[in-house]
Parts: sequence; C-alpha cells; structure tokens
Amino acid sequence: MARKRVAVLISGRGSNMAALVEAAKDKNYPAEIVLVISNRPDAAGIAFARNAGIATTIVDHTDYGKNREAFEHALENVLEDSNIDIVCLAGFMRLFTPWFPGKWQGRMLNIHPALLPAFPGLHTHEQALAAGARTHGATVHFVTAEMDAGPIVCQAAVPVLPGDTAETLAARVLTVEHKLYPLALKWLAEGKLRVADGKSVIDDAHVPEGVTIPQARP
Ligand code: GRF
Repeated sequence: MARKRVAVLISGRGSNMAALVEAAKDKNYPAEIVLVISNRPDAAGIAFARNAGIATTIVDHTDYGKNREAFEHALENVLEDSNIDIVCLAGFMRLFTPWFPGKWQGRMLNIHPALLPAFPGLHTHEQALAAGARTHGATVHFVTAEMDAGPIVCQAAVPVLPGDTAETLAARVLTVEHKLYPLALKWLAEGKLRVADGKSVIDDAHVPEGVTIPQARP
C-alpha cells in the first residue's frame, strides 16, 4: 500500500517532528514526512528538516495580519500542491478558525503536553505543578475547531516527582511524546484509526505498555 503523505506544521524546536521523521525512516512505516511547514521563519526545526532532506516551507502568519482565514488558505494551497494526505501539528502555535480543521477533519492530529481534558492551552507543566497533580503526560488527539478538545487518540502518563520544576517535568513528558506521536500517526496512516460519533476508534492495533486509548478504559 502507498505510504501516506504527511506534512508536519511546527513553530519552534521541532523535536516531535524529528521523532516522526525518525519513525518514517523505516520503510515499513505507513507514512512518509514529505513536507515541514513553519509559521515562523526562525523555527529551529526547519534546519533539522532541511538537513534531513525534507521539503520545507515558511508560511509566515505575520504576512496576513489579523486575517486568520487568509493565512489558513495559504497553508491549504501549500498542502494541496504537495498532495498531502495527513497533517500533524507539532508545537504549532497558531489557533485556527473552524474552516481549516473542517477541511482536515479526521486527517489532522495534534500532540498536547498534558493528559487532556486536564490542562488544555499553554504552560501545561506549570498548570500541573500548580494543581498538585501526581500524574501528568501527553495526549495525541484529532484537531477540531475547539482548541485541544478533539477526540483523544492515545495518551501516556508520567509521574510528577518531588522537586520537579516545569523544566524537569517537561523533559519527562517529552520522552513519552516522542513515542506517542509516531504510534498515533502509524495507526491513522494504516487506516486503523478513525473518528466515529465524535470519538476515536482504533481497530485491531497493538497498544504498547504505558499507552492508553479511550476505548481501553473500563
Ligand atoms: C511539545 O511539548 C508539544 O506537545 C507541544 O509543544 C511542544 C513542542 O515541542 N504542542 P517540539 O517543537 O516538538 O520540540
């Protein structure tokens, strides 16, 4: 079966994008990362992608002022030109109007550094520490019009340890992010993952230890 063509949208460091690129080096992985788009010209991840031989494009949101739809149409043109099948948001720091997630319904994933629905939005590690959470983690979810609220695909938890700072906790969460995102993309690309009645459904997939999927819960 042809590998799915994936674009990864970033705004910064791009370590999750790099984890997807690494996973897709395996010829048996059902997706290939063919394009990395950044809305920020200075995103460090762009250099990584170029070095990895992946096409990169900057779609700078500041060129569109407050016109989010115009920015999204520019993104859409780039995605269409590259025949993209699946979009992965990886540290992409722009909110969408309903139009763009509508276009990519069921074909766009995001990774969020918290166990959603806990701690949506920014500064999730600070939020977890401030709340006294004992467990924190990461979530891959489908992107819908509402920020960080689309159907959850899979999650992985890490402990919050005494003495943790936002930085130490972020680093622990990041290690599970880098395993979780390639797994979710694999399921979507091989057709095992879909949305039904507003929930993710995963058919016949091996779920590694430490990873939870919604329907695995009692
Ligand atoms: C990650 O923690 C991701 O979950 C969040 O933003 C961060 C991006 O890191 N959405 P990187 O750019 O992938 O290194």
